[in-house]
Amino acid sequence: MDKIEIAGGRRLHGEVRISGAKNAALPVLASALLVDGWNTFHNIPDLEDIKTIRALLASFGVQSEGEKTVRINAGTISSCEASYDLVRKMRASILVLGPLVARMGEARVSLPGGCAIGARPVNLHIKALREMGAEVELKDGYIEAKSARLKGAEIYFDIPTVTGTENIMMAAALASGTTVLKNAAREPEIVNLADVLTKMGAKIQGAGTDVITVKGVKTLHPVEARVIPDRIEAGTFMIAAGMTQGDIRVVDCEPRDIEALIAKLREAGMEIKVGDGHLRAVGKKKVKSVDIKTMPHPGFPTDLQAQIMAMMTISHGLSVITETVFENRFMHVSEMIRLGADIVIEGNSAVIRGVPKLHGAPVMATDLRASASLILAGLAAEEKTVLSRVYHIDRGYEQIEKKFSALGADMKRISG
Ligand code: EPZ
Repeated sequence: MDKIEIAGGRRLHGEVRISGAKNAALPVLASALLVDGWNTFHNIPDLEDIKTIRALLASFGVQSEGEKTVRINAGTISSCEASYDLVRKMRASILVLGPLVARMGEARVSLPGGCAIGARPVNLHIKALREMGAEVELKDGYIEAKSARLKGAEIYFDIPTVTGTENIMMAAALASGTTVLKNAAREPEIVNLADVLTKMGAKIQGAGTDVITVKGVKTLHPVEARVIPDRIEAGTFMIAAGMTQGDIRVVDCEPRDIEALIAKLREAGMEIKVGDGHLRAVGKKKVKSVDIKTMPHPGFPTDLQAQIMAMMTISHGLSVITETVFENRFMHVSEMIRLGADIVIEGNSAVIRGVPKLHGAPVMATDLRASASLILAGLAAEEKTVLSRVYHIDRGYEQIEKKFSALGADMKRISG
């Protein structure tokens, strides 16, 4: 298994181009299931998770070609079964459930199974499909859903679930009648998906707010569309500037998608200059400690919690980080302590006392964003840090060691 080796202590500077958003590309690729014909999607990132969903779609008979620009055609669907061995690799595979039931009238999708960061049930996806008239049974570890044609319904999400909102928005696009999603998630990736569906002919109002109205239509048509930039990747590089007293120009990003992070980095003493489609992150001096509470968008994103914790380990003072979205998203803490961090976990909060510096050591990635936070810690640590199990990071970051090396980091991948 590959490792990433980092010799820390270097100031990062230069320009980094942000890739397409993994969490936008996944539902957009799944939306191809709704139409017969060739779609063209631009700015698709080259990631393991993208390979996984394309393999899953191919198992249904969906054709796709190309890399950064992907052409995809679900004209003929020969199977509606998403097998466990594919779904267990990536829980976002659940995103095929809604489109398959809406287009084919049936779907057999493996339950995603456990995840490092929490139980992550899909009960809200299932409850909503049942409210739209689908017969849904859980059998032998699979979700078996059937419906001749879904009916519009008023859906209330107990929790603003991101993929739940995406799944039901796609299902509702071809339902008969109007569906209203209440307490819907508001992430930018949902707005991107709604824009693509609207281009396909769907009638959607309110994406990006907590009430989304979808007026079902009989058919949708193939489109050409673009995936938005990855706000989590952009945030990761901005935090790297703060941790290395660096000066990084982040291009091909959407600053308005990371306003919560920008506010927090400015509160910590960084200079963030925002432009149209780009920004500049400057870490002039040691950052100040700030308190963070993760929330659904537009609150502080849980997917940047581990990364900003890395920054807080070398800040001035005491920081309290509270994780309200997932119940087990502090796996990076014990690894950071190995690098010399001073962190105490109290329930769903971590109390971080800034230390003068971190010290390199071998550490292990446990999940996608935890691995990004350990890379950040390694960039700030003296001596060498070796990160193992980097397959976690390859799921969500495109060529991370090349992008950081281009900014002056001493970072290399060791194939193993
Ligand atoms: C999406 O996951 C993202 N993944 C996650 O990014 C992100 O962390 C998460 O949203 C929160 O922003 C994709 O978009 C592919 P949720 P999702 O449903 O949709 C509970 C990354 O690093 N819940 O919004 O699975 C759930 O347990 C990944 O790129 C239910 O209880 O998250 C969690 O506590 C990690 N029942 C909360 O809601 C349900 O049916 C939010 O989950 C659904 C969710």
